[in-house]
Amino acid sequence: MGTYSKGLEGVVAAQTKISFIDGEKGVLEYAGVPIGQLASHSTFEETVFFLWNGRFPTTPQLAEFTAALRARYGVPAGVEAMVAALPKDAEPMHAIRTLVSALGLYDPKPNAIDLPSVRDKALSILAQTPTLLAYFHRHRQGKPLVRPDASLTLAENFLYMLNGSKPTPAMTRALDVCLILHADHGLNNSTFTTRVIVSTESDIYSAMTGAIGSLRGPLHGGANEGVMRMLNQIPSVNDAEKFIQDKLAKKDKIPGFGHRIYKAYDPRASHLKVLAEQLAKDTGNLDLFQKSTAIEAVMNREKAAKGIYPNVDFYSATTYHCIGLPLDLFTPCFVIARVGGWSAHALEQLADNRLFRPDAEYTGPHNLPYAPIASR
Ligand code: ACO
Repeated sequence: MGTYSKGLEGVVAAQTKISFIDGEKGVLEYAGVPIGQLASHSTFEETVFFLWNGRFPTTPQLAEFTAALRARYGVPAGVEAMVAALPKDAEPMHAIRTLVSALGLYDPKPNAIDLPSVRDKALSILAQTPTLLAYFHRHRQGKPLVRPDASLTLAENFLYMLNGSKPTPAMTRALDVCLILHADHGLNNSTFTTRVIVSTESDIYSAMTGAIGSLRGPLHGGANEGVMRMLNQIPSVNDAEKFIQDKLAKKDKIPGFGHRIYKAYDPRASHLKVLAEQLAKDTGNLDLFQKSTAIEAVMNREKAAKGIYPNVDFYSATTYHCIGLPLDLFTPCFVIARVGGWSAHALEQLADNRLFRPDAEYTGPHNLPYAPIASR
């Protein structure tokens, strides 16, 4: 038997060409390309093509991929009817987990796991996740649904379906950059979940449903909502110092800080910090950005927080708020992006599959007698 590692820390459980992280140096690359280059020059659609194929598309290839994606923005009528039946006070992460699972019910061949089939299904899930989220958001507000517009990019269409009006180019680009930065990140918990599920040769809908459940946790994707709640609890920038000191003194974790892999600044956070500052200025939310930098300064200074840097969730909270997204749609937006990465990993796992089946070290007693119920 191998050595036990709590939380599988330090265990290499897969080989991948999809993304590379050097946690000591603060490097993240998608298929060899530094994340900053993609965030500066690419689009979410092109990035997903890149993750799924390991090469950039040519102009006709990108046009074909984008057209196929846009043609699938609409969701099956049965799933749309399910949206209308969901409780209006359901949490969006629970709603999207249920609705992505429901997509499988309307697929005539949900269990097909040959690579072309999985790629095809993943494209539909990628296209339809934003629609399902926007539909649920409109439903819970008692507003009529806004049908997808196939002339729009995925980010633009999502904001359009959510708000009923076309977003500005600046808002569309901000969301697009967030989606690029959140699309993949090594063998994080939800990606591992995806690979574990498809390794049983189960279907892609089950894998995505499980991955959404994993991402919801406050130690993973749910942290961006925790960051926003914290920013809301701090009345002004002058209160940030005491708030964080008090939390650290109680040994509370500060949402949006720390990472299992990064022991340096998360490169996604450096990019988001620049984006958040600009958006905060443009939308009159500079106080949020200032509170964030004040928190970061305290964390930098405090011995108790030494070596604990902001992660992707810290500045994405301000960014999403400035885009106009309600707090409980922050983690669901992460889902939209990560469907791209989860799909890439499902394809990579299936191309060279081996069932995940680790051992557990048994620490209980042995050879106990069966105690008849009357004697217990
Ligand atoms: N605030 C204060 N202290 C922290 C924080 C934090 N955010 N994160 C870690 N620490 C401290 C721990 O208290 C611990 O200190 P100790 O050794 O004195 O006990 C030490 O740093 C190591 O922390 P662990 O929790 O053991 O590190 P682990 O690798 O298990 O955790 C995690 C990483 C879960 C992300 C953690 O940093 C955390 O809970 N952060 C807050 C939640 C968060 O932002 N999650 C999002 C991560 S990014 C993503 O999933 C998209």
